[in-house]
Amino acid sequence: MLVSGILLVASSVLFNNSTDSSSIALIVLTSLVFASSLLLTVISQPKLNSFYGPLIFPVGDQIQIHWWTRKPVKTQLSLNGQVVESNNEPSCFHNYHVPNSSFQAAVVDPHTNTAHSISYDPPEIITDFIVTSDHHGNSKYSSRLGADYQLHLIGGDISDFGTPGEFCKTFKNFHTRPIIMAIGNHDTRGDIDHIINRQTYYQKFGSIGVFVLYVFQRPTYIHDPALISSVFSWLRQAIQTDDKHKFIMVHAPVYSTGLFGSTKLFTTQMEQFLDEHENERIRAVFQGHDHVFCSFKRKNVYVMTNATCGGDLVSPMRRKFDQTRWRQKELHGPLESNNDRRIGWEHHLDSWLIRSKTEVHIGDKITYTIRDLDTMQVKATYEQEID
Ligand SMILES: *[C@@H]1O[C@H](CO)[C@@H](O)[C@H](O)[C@H]1NC(C)=O
Ligand SMILES: *[C@@H]1O[C@H](CO)[C@@H](O)[C@H](O)[C@H]1NC(C)=O
Repeated sequence: MLVSGILLVASSVLFNNSTDSSSIALIVLTSLVFASSLLLTVISQPKLNSFYGPLIFPVGDQIQIHWWTRKPVKTQLSLNGQVVESNNEPSCFHNYHVPNSSFQAAVVDPHTNTAHSISYDPPEIITDFIVTSDHHGNSKYSSRLGADYQLHLIGGDISDFGTPGEFCKTFKNFHTRPIIMAIGNHDTRGDIDHIINRQTYYQKFGSIGVFVLYVFQRPTYIHDPALISSVFSWLRQAIQTDDKHKFIMVHAPVYSTGLFGSTKLFTTQMEQFLDEHENERIRAVFQGHDHVFCSFKRKNVYVMTNATCGGDLVSPMRRKFDQTRWRQKELHGPLESNNDRRIGWEHHLDSWLIRSKTEVHIGDKITYTIRDLDTMQVKATYEQEID
Protein backbone atom coordinates (compact mmCIF):
# COMPACT_ATOMS: atom_id res chain seq x y z
CA MET A 1 0.00 0.00 0.00
CA LEU A 2 2.87 2.32 0.84
CA VAL A 3 4.39 1.56 -2.56
CA SER A 4 1.19 2.35 -4.47
CA GLY A 5 0.80 5.56 -2.42
CA ILE A 6 4.30 6.61 -3.43
CA LEU A 7 3.54 5.73 -7.07
CA LEU A 8 0.38 7.80 -6.87
CA VAL A 9 2.25 10.84 -5.58
CA ALA A 10 4.98 10.33 -8.18
CA SER A 11 2.50 10.05 -11.03
CA SER A 12 0.63 13.19 -9.98
CA VAL A 13 3.94 15.05 -9.96
CA LEU A 14 4.45 13.72 -13.48
CA PHE A 15 0.94 14.86 -14.37
CA ASN A 16 1.85 18.48 -13.57
CA ASN A 17 4.53 18.35 -16.21
CA SER A 18 2.81 16.47 -19.00
CA THR A 19 -0.79 15.72 -19.84
CA ASP A 20 -0.43 13.00 -22.43
CA SER A 21 -2.74 10.03 -22.29
CA SER A 22 -0.15 7.51 -21.05
CA SER A 23 0.44 9.45 -17.83
CA ILE A 24 -3.33 9.77 -17.29
CA ALA A 25 -3.61 6.00 -17.67
CA LEU A 26 -0.80 5.57 -15.17
CA ILE A 27 -2.62 7.78 -12.66
CA VAL A 28 -5.87 5.89 -13.08
CA LEU A 29 -4.10 2.57 -12.64
CA THR A 30 -2.12 3.57 -9.54
CA SER A 31 -5.21 5.21 -8.04
CA LEU A 32 -7.07 1.94 -8.47
CA VAL A 33 -4.26 -0.04 -6.83
CA PHE A 34 -4.06 2.51 -4.03
CA ALA A 35 -7.82 2.52 -3.44
CA SER A 36 -8.08 -1.26 -3.39
CA SER A 37 -5.14 -1.69 -1.02
CA LEU A 38 -6.65 0.99 1.23
CA LEU A 39 -9.94 -0.91 1.20
CA LEU A 40 -8.15 -4.19 2.03
CA THR A 41 -6.32 -2.55 4.93
CA VAL A 42 -9.54 -1.10 6.32
CA ILE A 43 -11.45 -4.37 5.96
CA SER A 44 -8.72 -6.40 7.65
CA GLN A 45 -8.42 -4.08 10.70
CA PRO A 46 -11.53 -4.50 12.85
CA LYS A 47 -11.22 -8.28 13.19
CA LEU A 48 -7.83 -7.94 14.81
CA ASN A 49 -8.54 -4.92 16.90
CA SER A 50 -11.79 -5.19 18.75
CA PHE A 51 -10.90 -6.41 22.21
CA TYR A 52 -8.33 -8.01 24.47
CA GLY A 53 -8.40 -9.19 28.04
CA PRO A 54 -9.05 -9.57 30.80
CA LEU A 55 -5.37 -9.79 31.74
CA ILE A 56 -3.95 -9.96 35.23
CA PHE A 57 -1.01 -7.91 36.47
CA PRO A 58 0.22 -8.10 40.06
CA VAL A 59 0.73 -4.49 41.22
CA GLY A 60 2.18 -4.08 44.70
CA ASP A 61 0.04 -6.24 46.96
CA GLN A 62 -2.99 -6.01 44.68
CA ILE A 63 -4.06 -7.49 41.38
CA GLN A 64 -4.84 -5.23 38.41
CA ILE A 65 -7.41 -6.60 35.99
CA HIS A 66 -6.92 -5.00 32.58
CA TRP A 67 -8.88 -5.08 29.31
CA TRP A 68 -9.28 -2.99 26.19
CA THR A 69 -12.19 -2.11 23.91
CA ARG A 70 -11.91 -0.60 20.44
CA LYS A 71 -14.31 2.21 21.26
CA PRO A 72 -14.21 4.30 24.42
CA VAL A 73 -17.26 2.71 25.99
CA LYS A 74 -18.35 1.91 29.51
CA THR A 75 -17.95 -1.77 30.26
CA GLN A 76 -18.89 -3.83 33.25
CA LEU A 77 -16.68 -6.21 35.13
CA SER A 78 -18.31 -9.05 36.94
CA LEU A 79 -16.31 -10.35 39.87
CA ASN A 80 -17.39 -13.67 41.38
CA GLY A 81 -20.75 -13.21 39.66
CA GLN A 82 -21.37 -9.67 40.92
CA VAL A 83 -21.13 -6.59 38.74
CA VAL A 84 -18.58 -4.47 40.53
CA GLU A 85 -17.80 -1.58 38.30
CA SER A 86 -18.83 0.23 35.25
CA ASN A 87 -16.12 2.72 34.29
CA ASN A 88 -17.19 6.25 35.06
CA GLU A 89 -15.11 7.76 32.32
CA PRO A 90 -15.66 5.96 29.04
CA SER A 91 -12.23 4.84 27.87
CA CYS A 92 -10.63 2.20 25.65
CA PHE A 93 -8.22 1.06 28.36
CA HIS A 94 -9.91 -0.43 31.40
CA ASN A 95 -8.21 -1.17 34.70
CA TYR A 96 -9.66 -2.38 37.94
CA HIS A 97 -7.74 -3.24 41.10
CA VAL A 98 -8.79 -6.04 43.42
CA PRO A 99 -7.28 -7.52 46.57
CA ASN A 100 -4.90 -10.43 46.13
CA SER A 101 -7.38 -13.24 46.72
CA SER A 102 -9.14 -15.83 44.56
CA PHE A 103 -11.59 -14.49 42.00
CA GLN A 104 -13.42 -15.26 38.81
CA ALA A 105 -13.74 -12.17 36.62
CA ALA A 106 -15.66 -11.67 33.39
CA VAL A 107 -15.99 -8.80 30.93
CA VAL A 108 -18.31 -8.64 27.93
CA ASP A 109 -16.80 -7.38 24.68
CA PRO A 110 -19.38 -4.73 23.77
CA HIS A 111 -18.65 -5.06 20.04
CA THR A 112 -19.47 -8.75 19.81
CA ASN A 113 -21.36 -9.39 23.04
CA THR A 114 -18.96 -12.18 23.87
CA ALA A 115 -18.00 -12.78 27.51
CA HIS A 116 -14.33 -13.25 28.36
CA SER A 117 -13.40 -14.59 31.74
CA ILE A 118 -10.36 -15.29 33.83
CA SER A 119 -9.82 -16.91 37.19
CA TYR A 120 -7.10 -16.37 39.72
CA ASP A 121 -5.85 -18.16 42.83
CA PRO A 122 -2.97 -16.51 44.68
CA PRO A 123 -0.04 -18.97 44.65
CA GLU A 124 2.12 -19.33 47.80
CA ILE A 125 5.02 -20.98 46.04
CA ILE A 126 6.10 -20.43 42.47
CA THR A 127 7.46 -23.59 40.89
CA ASP A 128 6.96 -22.79 37.21
CA PHE A 129 7.04 -19.60 35.22
CA ILE A 130 7.94 -18.64 31.67
CA VAL A 131 9.91 -15.77 30.22
CA THR A 132 9.41 -14.24 26.80
CA SER A 133 10.34 -10.97 25.18
CA ASP A 134 10.06 -8.92 22.00
CA HIS A 135 6.64 -10.07 20.79
CA HIS A 136 6.34 -7.01 18.51
CA GLY A 137 2.62 -7.48 17.96
CA ASN A 138 2.94 -11.03 16.65
CA SER A 139 0.07 -13.32 17.61
CA LYS A 140 1.48 -16.48 16.05
CA TYR A 141 4.13 -17.05 18.68
CA SER A 142 2.10 -15.88 21.63
CA SER A 143 -0.39 -18.61 20.76
CA ARG A 144 2.34 -21.23 21.28
CA LEU A 145 3.13 -20.43 24.88
CA GLY A 146 0.83 -22.99 26.48
CA ALA A 147 -0.66 -22.45 29.90
CA ASP A 148 1.40 -24.77 32.01
CA TYR A 149 2.86 -22.16 34.31
CA GLN A 150 1.92 -19.85 37.19
CA LEU A 151 3.46 -16.60 36.04
CA HIS A 152 4.62 -14.98 32.81
CA LEU A 153 7.55 -12.56 32.71
CA ILE A 154 7.83 -10.39 29.61
CA GLY A 155 11.07 -8.55 28.89
CA GLY A 156 9.52 -5.70 26.87
CA ASP A 157 8.71 -4.77 23.26
CA ILE A 158 5.25 -6.22 23.25
CA SER A 159 4.68 -3.91 20.24
CA ASP A 160 6.47 -1.95 17.53
CA PHE A 161 4.78 1.39 18.11
CA GLY A 162 2.92 0.95 21.39
CA THR A 163 -0.46 0.89 19.61
CA PRO A 164 -3.57 -0.84 20.98
CA GLY A 165 -3.86 -2.78 17.70
CA GLU A 166 -0.49 -4.38 18.37
CA PHE A 167 -1.36 -5.08 22.00
CA CYS A 168 -4.51 -6.78 20.70
CA LYS A 169 -2.51 -9.06 18.48
CA THR A 170 0.07 -9.98 21.08
CA PHE A 171 -2.46 -10.37 23.87
CA LYS A 172 -5.04 -12.11 21.70
CA ASN A 173 -3.91 -15.49 22.99
CA PHE A 174 -2.95 -14.42 26.49
CA HIS A 175 -5.40 -15.72 28.87
CA THR A 176 -4.95 -17.16 32.24
CA ARG A 177 -1.75 -16.28 34.00
CA PRO A 178 -0.51 -13.20 35.84
CA ILE A 179 2.01 -11.10 33.92
CA ILE A 180 4.97 -9.04 35.11
CA MET A 181 6.27 -6.92 32.28
CA ALA A 182 9.23 -4.66 31.55
CA ILE A 183 8.94 -1.70 29.21
CA GLY A 184 10.85 -1.99 25.95
CA ASN A 185 12.06 0.90 23.81
CA HIS A 186 9.40 0.20 21.17
CA ASP A 187 6.56 0.23 23.72
CA THR A 188 7.43 3.77 24.81
CA ARG A 189 6.34 5.10 21.41
CA GLY A 190 2.70 4.64 22.34
CA ASP A 191 0.13 3.81 24.96
CA ILE A 192 2.00 1.37 27.20
CA ASP A 193 1.43 3.61 30.26
CA HIS A 194 -2.22 2.63 30.22
CA ILE A 195 -1.23 -0.98 30.84
CA ILE A 196 1.87 -0.65 32.95
CA ASN A 197 2.73 2.68 34.47
CA ARG A 198 5.80 1.70 36.44
CA GLN A 199 9.23 1.78 34.85
CA THR A 200 11.71 0.58 37.47
CA TYR A 201 9.99 -1.49 40.10
CA TYR A 202 9.93 -4.46 42.42
CA GLN A 203 7.15 -6.99 42.30
CA LYS A 204 6.85 -9.86 44.74
CA PHE A 205 4.84 -12.82 43.60
CA GLY A 206 4.60 -15.93 45.76
CA SER A 207 8.11 -17.11 46.58
CA ILE A 208 9.91 -14.99 44.00
CA GLY A 209 10.87 -11.34 43.74
CA VAL A 210 11.18 -9.68 40.33
CA PHE A 211 13.22 -6.51 39.97
CA VAL A 212 12.32 -4.71 36.76
CA LEU A 213 14.74 -2.09 35.51
CA TYR A 214 14.35 0.67 32.95
CA VAL A 215 17.67 2.08 31.76
CA PHE A 216 17.03 3.89 28.52
CA GLN A 217 15.26 7.10 27.67
CA ARG A 218 12.17 7.13 25.58
CA PRO A 219 11.62 6.88 22.73
CA THR A 220 15.04 5.77 21.55
CA TYR A 221 17.60 3.47 22.98
CA ILE A 222 20.09 5.75 24.67
CA HIS A 223 22.07 4.98 27.75
CA ASP A 224 21.99 7.89 30.14
CA PRO A 225 24.62 7.76 32.94
CA ALA A 226 22.41 9.65 35.43
CA LEU A 227 19.46 7.35 34.81
CA ILE A 228 21.62 4.24 35.15
CA SER A 229 23.12 5.45 38.45
CA SER A 230 19.70 6.22 39.83
CA VAL A 231 18.43 2.77 38.80
CA PHE A 232 21.33 1.02 40.55
CA SER A 233 20.98 3.07 43.72
CA TRP A 234 17.29 2.11 43.73
CA LEU A 235 18.24 -1.57 43.16
CA ARG A 236 20.77 -1.60 46.03
CA GLN A 237 17.94 -0.64 48.39
CA ALA A 238 15.23 -2.73 46.77
CA ILE A 239 17.21 -5.98 46.65
CA GLN A 240 17.14 -6.27 50.46
CA THR A 241 14.08 -8.53 50.50
CA ASP A 242 13.61 -11.98 51.98
CA ASP A 243 12.41 -13.54 48.70
CA LYS A 244 13.70 -17.09 48.21
CA HIS A 245 14.54 -16.39 44.58
CA LYS A 246 15.29 -13.05 42.97
CA PHE A 247 15.18 -12.39 39.25
CA ILE A 248 16.18 -9.19 37.51
CA MET A 249 14.42 -8.27 34.27
CA VAL A 250 15.63 -5.50 31.97
CA HIS A 251 14.96 -4.89 28.29
CA ALA A 252 18.54 -3.70 27.64
CA PRO A 253 21.09 -6.51 27.37
CA VAL A 254 23.84 -6.89 29.95
CA TYR A 255 25.66 -9.49 27.84
CA SER A 256 24.59 -10.33 24.32
CA THR A 257 25.90 -12.02 21.20
CA GLY A 258 23.17 -10.22 19.21
CA LEU A 259 23.28 -7.21 16.95
CA PHE A 260 23.11 -4.58 19.68
CA GLY A 261 25.50 -6.17 22.13
CA SER A 262 26.24 -4.66 25.49
CA THR A 263 26.89 -1.11 26.60
CA LYS A 264 29.95 -0.73 28.78
CA LEU A 265 28.43 1.78 31.19
CA PHE A 266 25.45 -0.41 32.04
CA THR A 267 27.24 -3.77 31.96
CA THR A 268 30.10 -2.77 34.26
CA GLN A 269 27.64 -1.38 36.80
CA MET A 270 25.59 -4.57 36.65
CA GLU A 271 28.69 -6.73 37.19
CA GLN A 272 29.69 -4.57 40.13
CA PHE A 273 26.19 -4.83 41.59
CA LEU A 274 26.10 -8.64 41.18
CA ASP A 275 29.53 -8.94 42.85
CA GLU A 276 28.36 -6.91 45.82
CA HIS A 277 25.27 -9.11 46.20
CA GLU A 278 26.68 -12.56 45.50
CA ASN A 279 24.96 -14.35 48.36
CA GLU A 280 21.57 -12.74 48.10
CA ARG A 281 19.73 -15.33 46.03
CA ILE A 282 19.85 -13.47 42.72
CA ARG A 283 19.31 -16.33 40.27
CA ALA A 284 19.11 -14.81 36.81
CA VAL A 285 18.96 -11.64 34.75
CA PHE A 286 16.38 -11.83 31.96
CA GLN A 287 16.87 -9.39 29.12
CA GLY A 288 15.38 -8.61 25.72
CA HIS A 289 16.05 -6.25 22.82
CA ASP A 290 18.44 -8.44 20.81
CA HIS A 291 16.42 -10.84 18.69
CA VAL A 292 18.50 -13.94 19.30
CA PHE A 293 18.57 -16.38 22.17
CA CYS A 294 21.78 -16.23 24.16
CA SER A 295 22.78 -17.37 27.59
CA PHE A 296 25.71 -16.67 29.86
CA LYS A 297 26.65 -17.83 33.32
CA ARG A 298 28.78 -15.62 35.50
CA LYS A 299 29.54 -17.10 38.92
CA ASN A 300 26.14 -18.64 39.80
CA VAL A 301 23.98 -16.06 38.01
CA TYR A 302 22.49 -16.80 34.59
CA VAL A 303 22.18 -13.93 32.14
CA MET A 304 19.85 -14.73 29.24
CA THR A 305 18.38 -12.84 26.36
CA ASN A 306 14.87 -13.86 25.88
CA ALA A 307 14.98 -14.56 22.26
CA THR A 308 12.29 -12.82 20.31
CA CYS A 309 8.82 -14.25 20.72
CA GLY A 310 7.50 -12.81 17.48
CA GLY A 311 9.66 -9.95 16.31
CA ASP A 312 11.82 -10.51 13.23
CA LEU A 313 14.99 -12.47 13.79
CA VAL A 314 17.78 -9.95 13.53
CA SER A 315 20.91 -11.64 12.37
CA PRO A 316 24.03 -10.66 14.28
CA MET A 317 25.83 -11.39 11.00
CA ARG A 318 24.87 -7.84 10.08
CA ARG A 319 27.53 -6.77 12.51
CA LYS A 320 30.59 -6.90 10.33
CA PHE A 321 33.04 -7.77 13.04
CA ASP A 322 31.04 -10.79 14.18
CA GLN A 323 30.54 -12.34 10.78
CA THR A 324 32.95 -15.16 11.32
CA ARG A 325 31.50 -16.09 14.69
CA TRP A 326 27.88 -16.21 13.57
CA ARG A 327 28.41 -18.12 10.31
CA GLN A 328 26.59 -21.21 11.61
CA LYS A 329 23.70 -19.29 13.21
CA GLU A 330 24.69 -20.66 16.56
CA LEU A 331 27.51 -20.24 19.05
CA HIS A 332 28.64 -22.34 21.99
CA GLY A 333 31.03 -22.04 24.89
CA PRO A 334 33.27 -19.19 26.02
CA LEU A 335 34.04 -16.61 23.35
CA GLU A 336 36.61 -13.91 23.03
CA SER A 337 35.53 -10.71 24.74
CA ASN A 338 37.49 -8.00 23.03
CA ASN A 339 35.41 -4.88 22.61
CA ASP A 340 32.75 -2.85 24.43
CA ARG A 341 29.81 -4.57 22.79
CA ARG A 342 31.16 -8.00 23.63
CA ILE A 343 31.55 -7.68 27.35
CA GLY A 344 31.29 -10.92 29.32
CA TRP A 345 31.66 -13.27 26.37
CA GLU A 346 33.98 -15.44 28.45
CA HIS A 347 30.82 -16.39 30.40
CA HIS A 348 28.96 -17.41 27.23
CA LEU A 349 27.08 -20.72 27.14
CA ASP A 350 24.93 -20.87 23.98
CA SER A 351 23.38 -18.65 21.29
CA TRP A 352 20.84 -19.50 18.61
CA LEU A 353 19.05 -17.45 16.00
CA ILE A 354 15.60 -18.71 17.02
CA ARG A 355 12.29 -17.61 18.47
CA SER A 356 11.96 -19.18 21.88
CA LYS A 357 10.48 -19.22 25.32
CA THR A 358 12.21 -20.02 28.58
CA GLU A 359 10.48 -22.32 31.02
CA VAL A 360 11.73 -21.95 34.56
CA HIS A 361 11.09 -24.70 37.10
CA ILE A 362 11.99 -24.14 40.74
CA GLY A 363 12.52 -27.31 42.77
CA ASP A 364 15.60 -28.51 44.68
CA LYS A 365 17.41 -26.90 41.78
CA ILE A 366 16.25 -24.28 39.31
CA THR A 367 15.93 -25.61 35.78
CA TYR A 368 15.80 -23.31 32.77
CA THR A 369 14.49 -25.02 29.64
CA ILE A 370 14.91 -23.16 26.36
CA ARG A 371 12.28 -24.16 23.81
CA ASP A 372 12.30 -23.21 20.13
CA LEU A 373 8.82 -21.83 19.35
CA ASP A 374 8.97 -22.90 15.69
CA THR A 375 9.89 -26.55 16.21
CA MET A 376 8.86 -26.72 19.90
CA GLN A 377 12.13 -28.57 20.49
CA VAL A 378 14.16 -28.08 23.63
CA LYS A 379 17.40 -26.36 22.66
CA ALA A 380 19.06 -26.32 26.08
CA THR A 381 18.46 -27.11 29.72
CA TYR A 382 20.44 -25.42 32.46
CA GLU A 383 20.43 -26.53 36.06
CA GLN A 384 21.27 -24.11 38.82
CA GLU A 385 22.28 -25.16 42.33
CA ILE A 386 20.49 -23.11 44.96
CA ASP A 387 21.12 -22.62 48.66
C1 LIG B 1 -0.84 -12.91 46.76
O1 LIG B 1 -0.95 -13.85 47.79
C2 LIG B 1 -0.09 -14.95 47.68
C3 LIG B 1 -0.48 -15.97 48.71
O2 LIG B 1 -0.46 -15.43 49.98
C4 LIG B 1 1.34 -14.46 47.81
O3 LIG B 1 2.22 -15.54 47.74
C5 LIG B 1 1.60 -13.48 46.68
O4 LIG B 1 2.90 -12.96 46.79
C6 LIG B 1 0.60 -12.37 46.71
N1 LIG B 1 0.72 -11.56 45.53
C7 LIG B 1 0.77 -10.25 45.58
C8 LIG B 1 0.83 -9.55 44.30
O5 LIG B 1 0.76 -9.66 46.63
C1 LIG C 1 14.22 -15.93 26.75
O1 LIG C 1 13.05 -16.43 26.26
C2 LIG C 1 12.91 -17.75 26.51
C3 LIG C 1 11.66 -18.15 25.86
O2 LIG C 1 10.60 -17.45 26.36
C4 LIG C 1 12.87 -17.96 27.97
O3 LIG C 1 12.76 -19.32 28.22
C5 LIG C 1 14.16 -17.46 28.58
O4 LIG C 1 14.14 -17.55 29.95
C6 LIG C 1 14.29 -16.09 28.21
N1 LIG C 1 15.55 -15.66 28.70
C7 LIG C 1 15.72 -14.46 29.14
C8 LIG C 1 17.07 -14.13 29.61
O5 LIG C 1 14.86 -13.65 29.21
